[in-house]
Amino acid sequence: FDVTWDAAAAEKGGWSSFMAKEVSEEPDAVANTVRGRIHDGAVVIPELDGLDDLFRGIHRILVIACGTAAYAGQVGKYALEQWARVPVDVELAHEFRYRDPVLDSGTLVVSISQSGETMDTLMAVKYARERGAKTLSICNTQGATIPRESDAIVYTHAGPEVAVASTKAFVAQITALYLLALHVGRVRGVLSEGDSAQAVAELEGVADKIAWILTHEQERTTQLARWMADTRSVLFLGRHVGFPIALEGALKLKEISYIHAEGFAAGELKHGPIALIEPGQPVFVIVPSPVFSPLLHDKVVSNIQEIRARGARVIVIAEEGDAAVLPFADEVLRIPLAGPLFEPLLAVVPLHIFAMGLAEAKGLDVDQPRNLAKSVTVE
Ligand code: G6P
Repeated sequence: FDVTWDAAAAEKGGWSSFMAKEVSEEPDAVANTVRGRIHDGAVVIPELDGLDDLFRGIHRILVIACGTAAYAGQVGKYALEQWARVPVDVELAHEFRYRDPVLDSGTLVVSISQSGETMDTLMAVKYARERGAKTLSICNTQGATIPRESDAIVYTHAGPEVAVASTKAFVAQITALYLLALHVGRVRGVLSEGDSAQAVAELEGVADKIAWILTHEQERTTQLARWMADTRSVLFLGRHVGFPIALEGALKLKEISYIHAEGFAAGELKHGPIALIEPGQPVFVIVPSPVFSPLLHDKVVSNIQEIRARGARVIVIAEEGDAAVLPFADEVLRIPLAGPLFEPLLAVVPLHIFAMGLAEAKGLDVDQPRNLAKSVTVE
């Protein structure tokens, strides 16, 4: 009677891969990042005590990051501008310091990094600091180099992420950016108590909504990925906060399935990408909420009609109860109803599941994709 002890399998806790485990932990990543930071319906971030004057004094936020973290930054821009009323630019860390950027003490540079060790991001933070900007780091790894080099830190509490392709850290990063935006909005006196309380309530409900997706849509999404295992190219369209999610969906597919994938802003379709549509081309479309964003919803539905008319195979990610998409969609993946700005935290989940399902269907190592490293510590 032999017992074979497989340490790696034990660490995966029964999951087929670290990525599968980490996607299943997306609800916890959000809940744990929020935990302890809400008191009486308001955001309280103890790490940011004493920084009120800094937040009142800034006239600009510059978010710097690489890869998935940069897409989290692009989602965060919408929230920071809406709730904190500060203009936000999002830059890839490796582009930033090679172009003589305008920086001053009124610029807050927010870096985002799961590992806290990405060399491109670290060098950008140091560069910004040397030129007088204040730096705040959003990081998932306690005591890592980037937070140590920053003036302030907001940790994400996603727990250790092992799979190279980032999943649960991404939703935790968006969550931390939302908490920061709500905090800065209140400190600057530009966000009402009521609007803040409403956003906080939404944020507190996100974990359960992600769990709903994992329970109700994971199997169907994985099945869809299996059917599409021979696909050579997939396009992703999104608008507003759905745009960075389209980019993230495409990145994940490239990273672990080695399939050509591109994300586009849906509004840009007619300015070029529509030329790519030929019969059978699979296109994921992230549809804005018909309840909270009726105008954008209708515009995206007409994009769907345009690509469908040219033979695209349309897979929509739409809110439960959105009947308008049904006549034009080949597949519909459902997400629960969520308030404005909260849809990205939900819409990304089926895209993570899809990329993982497709890589598994192709028999690839989803945790250790070829040519990639979890933490890139060279420039
Ligand atoms: C590498 C990883 C990506 C990750 C990026 C940023 O390229 O392969 O998955 O998004 O680094 O990593 P960070 O640790 O800074 O978030």
